[in-house]
Amino acid sequence: AKITYNHPDGSTYAVNANDPVSVMLAALVNNVPGIVGECGGNAMCATCHVYVRSDYLDRLPTMSDDEDEMLDGAAAQRTERSRLGCQIVIDDELDEIVVDLPPTQL
Ligand code: FES
Repeated sequence: AKITYNHPDGSTYAVNANDPVSVMLAALVNNVPGIVGECGGNAMCATCHVYVRSDYLDRLPTMSDDEDEMLDGAAAQRTERSRLGCQIVIDDELDEIVVDLPPTQL
């Protein structure tokens, strides 16, 4: 499974994950900058905010009310491509995703 993170400074980070993992956690364990993940993946902080590339948006599960509320309070502007990285799990069903990182998480 492959996760590609596009940083606002123009750099790109590609991470390969063998096991199901969230977009938030895969960034942290692979030292991808731009994701904080303060609450540890519980949809309670919005510091894992990402903009999902349109090709992949439709393939994601519907967002929960908690995720929806947290995104309203995200540090960077929310758009129709906004999701919480901790709520996106990359596994056999969704084996690839490309996200853009927001300019700030805090
Ligand atoms: Fe806190 Fe995703 S890590 S909301």
